[in-house]
Amino acid sequence: MPRRPDVQRSIPTLRKALAQFRRRGETIALVPTMGALHDGHLALVRLAQKRARRVVVSIFVNPAQFAPIEDFSKYPRTFAQDMAALTAEGVDLVWAPTEKAMYPEGFATRIAPAGPANAGLEDRFRPHFFGGVATVVAKLFLQVAPDVTIFGQKDYQQLKVVTQMVRDLDMPLKVVGAPTIREKDGLAMSSRNAYLSAENRRIAPLLHRVMKDCAGKIKSGEPIARVMTNGSAAITNAGFGLDYFEARNADTLAPVTSVKDGPLRLLVAAKIGQTRLIDNIAV
Ligand code: PAJ
Repeated sequence: MPRRPDVQRSIPTLRKALAQFRRRGETIALVPTMGALHDGHLALVRLAQKRARRVVVSIFVNPAQFAPIEDFSKYPRTFAQDMAALTAEGVDLVWAPTEKAMYPEGFATRIAPAGPANAGLEDRFRPHFFGGVATVVAKLFLQVAPDVTIFGQKDYQQLKVVTQMVRDLDMPLKVVGAPTIREKDGLAMSSRNAYLSAENRRIAPLLHRVMKDCAGKIKSGEPIARVMTNGSAAITNAGFGLDYFEARNADTLAPVTSVKDGPLRLLVAAKIGQTRLIDNIAV
């Protein structure tokens, strides 16, 4: 029987638990999450286990990255199930800080990411999002001091923002990107998929199908602008409210007009019913 991970909720007890690993010279991988864990998160955990002796998973629904109109209060919280899944994976430590531990009274410092955080993708629709993400992720890195951290490509712009922050602020750890885990029908796994009605769940995989179709056409030489216009129409016609569907340089997220501006990445954000889905693929 795998052992239940040690759970810490305050900074002093976290530091004590981590000191034991460090004393023995054990390397540490951190997987930051907001809980409501699915197989996408667990794939990150498995990659973390390959990269370090000890794996720490953080679970914290970060109020700083939700706008007042967003779903902070109803974001799924499934701690008992999450613990069962992390026990089965053999995770060593779960860092589940209270809101007070993360943002004590008088908290007044924020990281202000630019570059990939201003690419005109998620930032256009969620202007405070990457500031909130960068701030909490910087705190998690300082709290846990991992050797390596694993982030999903599912949140591609987030992965770029975190990589840039680590480079710019000389944070002594390596950021590893992990491939997106999908349902059998192609829908990218997401904690927010739990919000989808049966009808919308049936429609949702179209996003991935359209992206794959467009990537194929771009690879075979069709002009990017036409492919993206037709792809956007297919998404809208299926009943989505489209925030963006764009081809970007996969490294810099800069806009592109031809495959010569590559490597390319297609990125999409669209609402179906009340649920906002994001996804992306390589061309
Ligand atoms: P959350 O949405 O819980 O995601 C935690 C990590 O899991 C992220 O790195 C995300 O990219 C990855 N992930 C989510 N779905 C995935 C999938 N289908 N395949 C592979 N990886 C997937 O992202 C956040 O939380 C927060 O913004 C956080 C970084 C924890 C800061 O609060």
